[in-house]
Amino acid sequence: MTNIVNLFAPPECSAVDSLGEVFLVGAGPGDPELITVKAMRLLKDADAIVYDRLANPVLLDYAHKHCDLIYVGKKKDQHSLPQDQICTLLAALAGCGKKVVRLKGGDPFIFGRGGEEVEHLAAQGIACTIVPGITAAIGCAAATQIPLTHRDHAHAVTFITGHRQQGKMHINWDLALQRDSTVVFYMGLSNLKEITAELIARGCPTNKPFAVVAQGTSNAQQVLVGTVGNIADKLAQHPLPSPALLMMGDVINANTYAQQLANLTSTAKPVSSAILEVI
Ligand SMILES: C[S@@+](CC[C@H](N)C(=O)[O-])C[C@H]1O[C@@H](n2cnc3c(N)ncnc32)[C@H](O)[C@@H]1O
Repeated sequence: MTNIVNLFAPPECSAVDSLGEVFLVGAGPGDPELITVKAMRLLKDADAIVYDRLANPVLLDYAHKHCDLIYVGKKKDQHSLPQDQICTLLAALAGCGKKVVRLKGGDPFIFGRGGEEVEHLAAQGIACTIVPGITAAIGCAAATQIPLTHRDHAHAVTFITGHRQQGKMHINWDLALQRDSTVVFYMGLSNLKEITAELIARGCPTNKPFAVVAQGTSNAQQVLVGTVGNIADKLAQHPLPSPALLMMGDVINANTYAQQLANLTSTAKPVSSAILEVI
């Protein structure tokens, strides 16, 4: 039986011979089979796993029976444990000599605050290793067969946060409007209407293909396909749950898209993708 730990109680321990270490591990986007072999080995070996809301909880089954499982997940506008306390917790656990896996959805360094945790641990003299994970954009692209850099349509792909900070969006619109480029907005679902309105106001053609992928790579994946001009109305008609990504670019070929998804027959993939609407 693993220990579910009260995350508000900092760990206490007697003096240890040597410090432990922290592994910042990417859990991948949703399908638990997308985790790396290295991540799986570390999960099996960990003394403590500190995990997020977006890390698939099925992965915790790899933990051994004495491992402490500590949930520090965040919900929008509602942090269950502030970031500085997560950093303190990681350092305290390692300070007790533990091998700590910090399990994060997707990749730890893509909009995952991994950088802040590494900085904090380095300042405390605690060894930290990064184990990359499949970020949501890559996972969702694969699961929906949207080829992010198909060479006939895109020479670049840009990941942008569509999140608001202190009520403001901090989007580099020039970057979002680059020609021959695919743009993926993370954390933009609730701001989709403003994002698309601003793109159009800045000259984006209203017929630019646009997709929303919700709960990508999981069995509950849903995809809404349209254009920059109509996706907000479509989303109002078919509200989608989070987490969701917004994807924009000519690589989203709506004419073949439905056919491609209908033809997905791979047995290696648990996804039964629902397309809600095509342009
Ligand atoms: C705080 S960011 C973390 C990103 C993560 N580190 C990664 O590399 O995927 C959370 C955002 O990632 C996106 N996301 C994460 N998992 C997703 C999934 N399974 N399907 C669609 N979007 C996802 C959503 O935009 C969500 O708001």
